[in-house]
Amino acid sequence: MAGLVPMATVMATRKVNAWCFVCSLLLLILAASLLMKCSQTNKNIYPNANSKEQTRVTNAVKSSNRVDDASAKIPARLCTQVDIDRHAGTVLLTTTNAGFLDMTENMLHSIKRLRICPNITVIAEDERSYRRLSALKTLHPGLHVQRTNLGATTSDRLRVYGRTYVQFVKRRTHYILRFLEDGYNVLFADADTFWFQDPFPDFRGNFDIAMRQEVNPASLSPVFCNGLALYRPTENTLAVVREWVRLLNTTHKKTMDKDVLNRVIQKRKPNLRMKSLDPGRYPDGRVLRDKGWVKKQAGRSAVLHFSHIFGYEGKLKKFKENGLWLL
Ligand SMILES: *[C@@H]1O[C@H](CO)[C@@H](O)[C@H](O)[C@H]1NC(C)=O
Ligand SMILES: *[C@@H]1O[C@H](CO)[C@@H](O)[C@H](O)[C@H]1NC(C)=O
Repeated sequence: MAGLVPMATVMATRKVNAWCFVCSLLLLILAASLLMKCSQTNKNIYPNANSKEQTRVTNAVKSSNRVDDASAKIPARLCTQVDIDRHAGTVLLTTTNAGFLDMTENMLHSIKRLRICPNITVIAEDERSYRRLSALKTLHPGLHVQRTNLGATTSDRLRVYGRTYVQFVKRRTHYILRFLEDGYNVLFADADTFWFQDPFPDFRGNFDIAMRQEVNPASLSPVFCNGLALYRPTENTLAVVREWVRLLNTTHKKTMDKDVLNRVIQKRKPNLRMKSLDPGRYPDGRVLRDKGWVKKQAGRSAVLHFSHIFGYEGKLKKFKENGLWLL
């Protein structure tokens, strides 16, 4: 009896060893086939992109899975149609051209990893950005890319507040109006925004337009900033946006669309129901003067708009310095 026990143990061990060997072999084969499948998928996702773009996109996906900074709490999983349909009836709208393309992509990544899954429409002001973003659609389910219907414009990085830039941003109002007239809620976001949290919960309640507010320290009177706003397709909203479009067409070329909008809003009150978005949750670029802001405050913010930071280069630097550049 005493001799049998070790014998049984030895046999059992041999069995286990053999089993383990077969097991590891199977695992190895499985891993190899998975690896092959993965690399194949990576190749097939972007049929139109060239290899340099492929690498860029692959790196972008990698970095969107990064969890080493304050903003990256939830790893990216692709949105399904069911997720996207939760926001049916609302179009997240933004516009871009090749000069602002990387900033737009950065915003898309910041949204993607929160898994908000909005129905996104990007109006491409030039052919280059149209093609580039169209190639990214599989990476961002729910992304629609449209060519401008107002005639293509320059691909340059426009000097902020320069004449062409002002003309470029004025076109946004036309697009907003078009979607409102089709009955959609329009969530408009400038490309120079970074999303820390889902803003949709802030859009509850009774209002025509919800908009970010900025306080000018000199005047202490807040002004609405259309860099992030939700427009509901109500009679009030349509009247405001139509008047906004009409006035933009007749005011001086260098007048900012924001200034015109604020005038229209003042005139339309009190019938027009404006909802001011909390500046704590919807801050502007001035908060980044505090180098530790992202660490301390980003967790309490929904969307940061990089306004009050001059020019494309200035914004890019701030994105990078604060660990908010995901490309
Ligand atoms: C998403 O937006 C597009 C416009 O780009 C629109 O045609 C489509 O109906 C929208 N989908 C949903 C589910 O709202
Ligand atoms: C803008 O003004 C021009 C004339 O200055 C006019 O022909 C055009 O129809 C106007 N467009 C809109 C959208 O009001």
